[in-house]
Amino acid sequence: MVGKKRSTLKKIKPKKKLVVGNWKMNPQTAAEASRTFGKIRTTAGKLRKVNTVVCPPSVFLGDLRKGVMGKRLLLGGQDCHFEPDGSHTGEISALQLASVKAKYVIVGHSERRADGETDERIGGKVAAALKSGLSVIVCVGETARDKNGRYLKKIEDQLLRGLASVSQADFERVVIAYEPIWAIGKNALRPAHPRDVFEMKIFVRRVLSDAFGKNHSEKMLFLYGGSVDAKNARDFLADGEADGLLVGRASLDAGAFGEILKIAEEVGS
Ligand code: PGA
Repeated sequence: MVGKKRSTLKKIKPKKKLVVGNWKMNPQTAAEASRTFGKIRTTAGKLRKVNTVVCPPSVFLGDLRKGVMGKRLLLGGQDCHFEPDGSHTGEISALQLASVKAKYVIVGHSERRADGETDERIGGKVAAALKSGLSVIVCVGETARDKNGRYLKKIEDQLLRGLASVSQADFERVVIAYEPIWAIGKNALRPAHPRDVFEMKIFVRRVLSDAFGKNHSEKMLFLYGGSVDAKNARDFLADGEADGLLVGRASLDAGAFGEILKIAEEVGS
């Protein structure tokens, strides 16, 4: 009886951890970008349970593309435009990113939302990225928490509006990064608690399960980002049950980022 029951349980394929470095507007020279990437490559290349993605400023993508390694080390953009081409001075299209071997793009980062990016615009960018064959890392996160849980509504809106045009078939190329704004950057109040991360993962899954179906939402990768470092990475992955991490400052230091990657390998299944 027990055996029979077990055999009917659906086996969920273990997911590799996904660790993404968001370099933001750093470093200042191509030489330094290559050096840091080279060091990250040495660590990332040895890991079997982690897929690493580096998102440098796009001017460096062309140089760094020579160093990508299968799924172990990939490149991503930090943003893309929602139009496929045209008169958009200073912008980058999803196809341009794909043409220099980027496989991912971050969309809806809070620093861009702070510059006036709307959920609808983000939805357009998600659609453009998927159409160009990229996987898309959609950032969501609340500015502050309130006792009544109103911040959850904000996350739900960000998810549903940002993913409004995603088809079920494309959903497997969508990664959600939960980055509470109060936990990001030098002025962060504090990193989130792993319990906050776990609860948010459950919430995001529930919202996406209603929108895309349970099967899809269970396969979704859920990342945590915001003041991740080598000291707290294990807590987010193990106790917070994050499927990976989106790392800002610490990803610019190849040593610290390498430590985070090794921790993800230890926690990974
Ligand atoms: P941080 O940045 O790790 O420096 O807090 C995270 C992010 O903004 O993606």
